[in-house]
Amino acid sequence: LSSTEDLVELNFEVLSSMKIAKGDIFWKKKSGKLIPLCFIGDRIDHDYISKFQKMTNVLWMKVVGNSNLVDEGVTLLKKITEASDDEQRFKVRDEFFNYLKPHFWSEEGKGNLVDFVTIFQEVFYDLSDEQEHFLENKSLVIFKRSYLCAASTTALAMCLGYVDFDFLKDLYQVNFYMDVGIEKSQFTTSTMNVLEKERVFPGARNENLSDAEKEVVEQHAFQSISKLEGEATYNFNNKSIKRLIKFHHERLLGDGFPLGLNSDELSDLEKIIIMVFQNITYDELSFTENDGSMFLKNFIGDADQGECEARLEQQIKNVFDKESSITAVGA
Ligand SMILES: [Fe+2]
Repeated sequence: LSSTEDLVELNFEVLSSMKIAKGDIFWKKKSGKLIPLCFIGDRIDHDYISKFQKMTNVLWMKVVGNSNLVDEGVTLLKKITEASDDEQRFKVRDEFFNYLKPHFWSEEGKGNLVDFVTIFQEVFYDLSDEQEHFLENKSLVIFKRSYLCAASTTALAMCLGYVDFDFLKDLYQVNFYMDVGIEKSQFTTSTMNVLEKERVFPGARNENLSDAEKEVVEQHAFQSISKLEGEATYNFNNKSIKRLIKFHHERLLGDGFPLGLNSDELSDLEKIIIMVFQNITYDELSFTENDGSMFLKNFIGDADQGECEARLEQQIKNVFDKESSITAVGA
């Protein structure tokens, strides 16, 4: 790394309020050499980063995100906490998606995924240090992916008409607990590779794994739910939200696991979870400039999933097209 032209100074005070790295973060040694401390999209390990304060007053960041865009999105989305009735909440929702559209829906969109993730994190993220610590002991890689899954799930649920803030906050948080049934020591490379292969080719999990690994993969959705009892778990307002964990590897065509349910047996919210988890890779996420273009539209790209899914997809499209009026859940 030779050039510092595209790096900006980052002082420790600004850094301390940042949860997710908005770009790769470096320590510049006296020799000028840049040492990477943290990569874009990572949850920032503040204990680790603060150690560098002894050696320098300032760190450097290669900025990808657009902080004005994030601030605007956060301001719009936060209005949902002030809205006094559903009519206002839907107004906030529509205004927010109108703002997202040119960046994360339109073909000419130039949104950054790190911004998308950061907006939802700033509005909905509610895990305590203790809860984070518990999750980190599972797997950091999964933690990073969870930010993207959580933002996506929450966005799509809002499209379907879920606008209650407490419910959305629960829904956001539950995404971090999907895989807690897998211990870090069980998160072998082969397990991770198999989860990724299964994601792309349903049924592939049955190849290339030892019986023990197979058992871990097959049972982890159930294990994750039972792990939520008594440990450092988020205090969900809506206790039944935990059931969603059971479905995160099911598939709309019935070829998922562990239950192999088909779409007639799944609720819309369960389908949202499935759409998100089958679309986001288990491989290392490396956010780049403009990688959010059409991100939200791509969730509904799959044709040929039957009438029921066409209805679901239409509901999501309607929010972006703002043509039909959408009724509240349960209305
Ligand atoms: Fe999983």
